[in-house]
Amino acid sequence: MQKKDELYRGKAKTVFYTDDPQLLILEFRNDTSAFDGEKIEQLDRKGEVNNKFNHFIMNHLEQAGVKTQVNALVSDTESLVKKLDMIPVECVVRNVAAGSLCRRLGVEEGMTLNPPTFEFFLKNDALHDPMINDYHIISFGWATEAQITQMKALTFKVNAVLTELFDQGDMILVDYKLEFGVDAEGNIVLGDEFTPDGCRLWDKTTRNKMDKDRFRQGLGSVVETYIEVASRLGLAL
Ligand code: TMP
Ligand code: ASP
Repeated sequence: MQKKDELYRGKAKTVFYTDDPQLLILEFRNDTSAFDGEKIEQLDRKGEVNNKFNHFIMNHLEQAGVKTQVNALVSDTESLVKKLDMIPVECVVRNVAAGSLCRRLGVEEGMTLNPPTFEFFLKNDALHDPMINDYHIISFGWATEAQITQMKALTFKVNAVLTELFDQGDMILVDYKLEFGVDAEGNIVLGDEFTPDGCRLWDKTTRNKMDKDRFRQGLGSVVETYIEVASRLGLAL
């Protein structure tokens, strides 16, 4: 497999073409960003930790029947993935109130949401990822109604699988963001990443933050804590 030109450079990952038109290489960089790219820092080993963490979680999801784009690890910081036509919306499930939900609705951080709630955001940093609804997605042609139904069902399936996985490691999956794309056969497939950069994880007992809120809030030990999360899931990094 040969790495070719850069296709896209995001805030924390770079996507490269390969000599196979159906496959891309995803490189996880050490760049860590928050507040729509306003705060960016290099964190030693973060690229490697997130690459391996993502591979572990995506494999776990595949085994549970969720189609993902992840194919293989190709280096410490790179993964081979299936090329998808990405849908520019972010699917967020929240089990516990935190982050923007608290700011928008004035609810207290830590309130359990029963049932868990679901939100769509438009992937657009310049607009600060505004919250959107199903009708916006259909009217602007970002996805069809059938694709929306599938994205919601898959996002909740991921919730069932990962809530259980993190619970076994004495962690609460507070919330997370997923992105989907369409593969060459027209299937909706989970893309992008699942790492502590795109979810909130709290220690079950102490409720200590074990995710990117450590970076957003300047709590320190960001990568060390991601390694601890992995270790609790049985992944030594
Ligand atoms: P929020 O509380 O900022 O709306 O985020 C909810 C969850 O989704 C949180 O775990 C962070 C994740 N997320 C991202 O990783 N990137 C994004 O652009 C957004 C909107 C959310
Ligand atoms: N929106 C994401 C966050 O705040 C990423 C970013 O803003 O750079 O975590």
